[in-house]
Amino acid sequence: MIIAVDGPTASGKGTIARALAAHFGLPHLDTGLLYRAVGRQVMLNGGDPDDAEAALAACAFPDSLLDDPELRSEATGGLASRVSIHPPVRSALYERQRAFALQQGGAVLDGRDIGTVIAPEADAKLFIDASVEARAQRRFLEMQDQGREVSLEAIATDLAARDERDRNRADSPLVAANDAVLIDTSSLRREEAIAAAIAAVDAAMDRA
Ligand code: DC
Repeated sequence: MIIAVDGPTASGKGTIARALAAHFGLPHLDTGLLYRAVGRQVMLNGGDPDDAEAALAACAFPDSLLDDPELRSEATGGLASRVSIHPPVRSALYERQRAFALQQGGAVLDGRDIGTVIAPEADAKLFIDASVEARAQRRFLEMQDQGREVSLEAIATDLAARDERDRNRADSPLVAANDAVLIDTSSLRREEAIAAAIAAVDAAMDRA
């Protein structure tokens, strides 16, 4: 059983994907983390994230980098979005994601192009969305909790820029697969969003 969870930044897709993995007893891959590692490695190499060759070279990041807390920062998220537009970067990361999806017993993957490119045959596809306002508000609270000084406006501007880049890139843009179930989490509490996702996966399994 393959479950694909796609959606924009701060939509709740990561939380939902982890909850689905726990509920259905499946391994989970946060594919954004791979792009974040590439973005971070470009900086460590002193390269330019907008340069396709520098970004491709950074795909050879060591696995240990995946544990670097800096990968979770907003700055690295922005770098990830920039390196992710280069087709050679997307191809370099394809096999790893594909192999994870195809492992025995199934898997949950979350990202931007799981239902469209990485696992178009997924048994259940969810597209998690929320208004920019709701997503910025969530990110703002998260960062405040971490004791970081941030402005809600700056977060909203940043999210909008990242969305714009992710949705409009030529290669594997952020878009809901035709057969994805859309869940808008703008006005849902965490538990409600998770329950809606579990119900959507159960319904997809019943149809299969
Ligand atoms: O989900 P995230 O915020 O960790 O993703 C960071 C960036 O990585 C995102 O802005 C675009 C890119 N990304 C991608 O292009 N394809 C994926 N499957 C996952 C992430």
